[in-house]
Amino acid sequence: MKLFTATKLLLAAAAPIHAAYTWQNVKIGGGGGFVPSFVFHPKTKGVAYARTDIGGIYRLNSDDSWTAVTDSIVDNANWNKWGVDALALDPQDDTKVYAAVGSYTNSWDPNNGAIIRSSDKGATWSTTTLSFKVGGNMPGRGMGERLAVDPANSKILYFGARSGNGLWKSIDAGVTFTKVSSFTAKGLYAPDPSDTNGYNNDPQGLAFVTFDSTSGTTSGATSRIFVGTADNTTSSVWVTEDAGTTWKAVAGQPGTFFPHKAILQPTEKALYFTYSDGTGPYDGTMGAVYRYDITAGTWKNITPVSGSDLYFGFGGIGVDMQKAGTIVVASLNSWWPDAQIFRSIDSGTTWSRLWEWSSYPSMNLYYSQSTSKAPWVKAGFLDSDTKDLGWMIESLVIDPLDSNHWLYSTGLTVFGGHDLTKWDTTHNITIEVLADGIEEFAVLGLASAPGGSELLAAVGDDSGFTFASSSVLRTSPQKPWMDPIFSSSTSVDYAGASVKNVIRVGNTAGTQQVAASGDGGVTWYAYSGAGTTMSGGTIAYSASADTILWSTSANGVQRSQFSSAFSSVSSLPATAVIAADKQDSTAFYGGHAATFYVSKNTGSTFAAAGALTGATSVRAIVAHPKAAGEVWVSTDVGIFRSTNYGTSFAKVSTALTNTYQIALGLGSGGTWNVYAFGTGSAGARLYGSGDTGATWTDIQGAAQGFGAIDSCKLAGSGNTAGQVFVGTNGRGVLYASGSLASGGSTTTTTSGQTTLSTTTTRSTTTTTTTVATSTTTSRTTTTSSATTATPTGTVPRFGVSKGYP
Ligand SMILES: *[C@@H]1O[C@H](CO)[C@@H](O)[C@H](O)[C@H]1NC(C)=O
Ligand SMILES: *[C@@H]1O[C@H](CO)[C@@H](O)[C@H](O)[C@H]1NC(C)=O
Repeated sequence: MKLFTATKLLLAAAAPIHAAYTWQNVKIGGGGGFVPSFVFHPKTKGVAYARTDIGGIYRLNSDDSWTAVTDSIVDNANWNKWGVDALALDPQDDTKVYAAVGSYTNSWDPNNGAIIRSSDKGATWSTTTLSFKVGGNMPGRGMGERLAVDPANSKILYFGARSGNGLWKSIDAGVTFTKVSSFTAKGLYAPDPSDTNGYNNDPQGLAFVTFDSTSGTTSGATSRIFVGTADNTTSSVWVTEDAGTTWKAVAGQPGTFFPHKAILQPTEKALYFTYSDGTGPYDGTMGAVYRYDITAGTWKNITPVSGSDLYFGFGGIGVDMQKAGTIVVASLNSWWPDAQIFRSIDSGTTWSRLWEWSSYPSMNLYYSQSTSKAPWVKAGFLDSDTKDLGWMIESLVIDPLDSNHWLYSTGLTVFGGHDLTKWDTTHNITIEVLADGIEEFAVLGLASAPGGSELLAAVGDDSGFTFASSSVLRTSPQKPWMDPIFSSSTSVDYAGASVKNVIRVGNTAGTQQVAASGDGGVTWYAYSGAGTTMSGGTIAYSASADTILWSTSANGVQRSQFSSAFSSVSSLPATAVIAADKQDSTAFYGGHAATFYVSKNTGSTFAAAGALTGATSVRAIVAHPKAAGEVWVSTDVGIFRSTNYGTSFAKVSTALTNTYQIALGLGSGGTWNVYAFGTGSAGARLYGSGDTGATWTDIQGAAQGFGAIDSCKLAGSGNTAGQVFVGTNGRGVLYASGSLASGGSTTTTTSGQTTLSTTTTRSTTTTTTTVATSTTTSRTTTTSSATTATPTGTVPRFGVSKGYP
């Protein structure tokens, strides 16, 4: 099997080139996406990881914050590795981490999956590519864990695959895997067999691998192992008693519903199972909780509710390893009025609830809730929805070494606390947002207004966020873009000569999907010219804030002036790339295929302008923030610049080709830097130029992946010299600063310290330099599939998948 060792490649890099910038997240806070699972180390306190479906792995810190540990494994060609379908720790070595990575098992993902492994808590990784795909953002991703390390033998791992690929085993600590031929169950259930795009019709495969650490060993391996499959039959839970030589279905198992979790309580010598009538994470209208007594071989139905109270399945179940018999289990999806969480201190014989009806519609809440680490969660979501506890609760874990510390995930954020045992005394606990450091947002548009708001970030599923100045980039905002709140905002722009004026567009037709702000994006109002039938796409605001040009997702290019109703601009092709001149309010620009268009009559009509020689695809257009008539165009053959409103163009350099988003940002001494995603000397990544595009420097570096460059968003700061923002599809907004001198050398500035460029850059040979057409296609398919999403979101939206209803 192919081996890819990131550390080795780093060392192999040749002479120092330029310092890449040091990147950090803009702190939106609160996670902003689904966290399918948490895994705690069973023996070392405080060692825990969260796996996400589109944004990689995070490691828990002692102050409740999280640190991303997989930014270096994802590059343009390997964007799929931020989808994490399973994570395992070695019970005998707290430095070891394993994960099954890969985003989709269908054509949206060009790559096979991989098992990555770390021996230093995620600081560095080695990779074994599998012979099949892994679906970290597929249905059923909250089941698990499908990957596990034998507690008696650190060299043995099992991985339960999707798509009918069965059970796989490693006997060399994850370096190689071979199929376990004695295990024949495949888990062939698919949520929608008639789905033709390969997403919901793919067999869900195996659900979990759970070792019984109390079972003793056979030839140095744990004897008893349980494996779950995505079946709702009496053959959904399998067991071996001879370390994997033979397998049989466990006798007496339920036979209805799909098993999601099987957690061993070694003291009780019991397994706790959650079941749901779907494989998750959005579904479930019925389910059960079971306790399996391993010694007696008996199953006991311990479902906390019945009758009309039971209208959901179960996902996350926390088992207190310090106190046998204490368990906490959550409804997977109780869409109204809220999730319910149940606790038992007698192995599931009796239960108490986290809330109860007092006299309808009043509730007794046996908790208080704090969103101090991410205030927008309350302002934008808890306050406007009956659900405070969340949905998609596939993971709920009690810290195995601290009965008070627990975490659970929702479709929006991570909740948890440090006083869980108060449930048993005062029956009143504190639940906090504990996602600090997790930035899982899918960013769909960015802008930075010179003299105005430092950052406007349009995001999928959480509307968007305004950061007034550079000093608040590490402070979670008080609120998302609201009144109106859009589920997803797909684009944002400011008026170049009147920068407090900002507009944004949302993607959910049915209500007005254009909103305007006169205070730099703090408060908003629905733009009265917007009807209710059009949505999505990109938007451009004229310099003086009187005209809006809108390249909609499905209704061509539209124009509105002075709040009039939008009307079609027939002289621009549908889905054209658009931009407004930032200083001349009569001028707008458009691009489609090989053609560049200009309007000098406030967007009423467009005409083809200067040639972009050799280009066949205009990817992005950016107007100079201060110079009227100066426009930059990104194409499949690189970047062109015009200083005469597009009448004529010059290609700025041959060093950078196949470019995607470009941006201008304040440079040193009042100059303007240019930033671009494209293919240059260091491969397909982010480059910067301080000399009007003549020379380009790799400012991304090998340590910071952004995912596929064709889906990254980009903004140069209009206010802070050398600062640049990157919007990712699942890792939020990252930013960095540096200075770009002419000639391409760099000086990086991080946290007030200035260091000269001496560090290494990953050699160009390690990066696949071609941006495959299939990557673009897969992205487009993913997004378009989202339009068919049901209200509860059965399909990922923009790669995020939190299914906010
Ligand atoms: C299994 O799941 C399928 C699909 O949801 C359903 O039609 C069937 O009735 C279920 N069977 C059992 C035994 O629960
Ligand atoms: C639990 O504590 C919170 C915060 O003090 C309080 O608001 C709430 O009413 C308490 N719940 C009950 C049922 O007493």
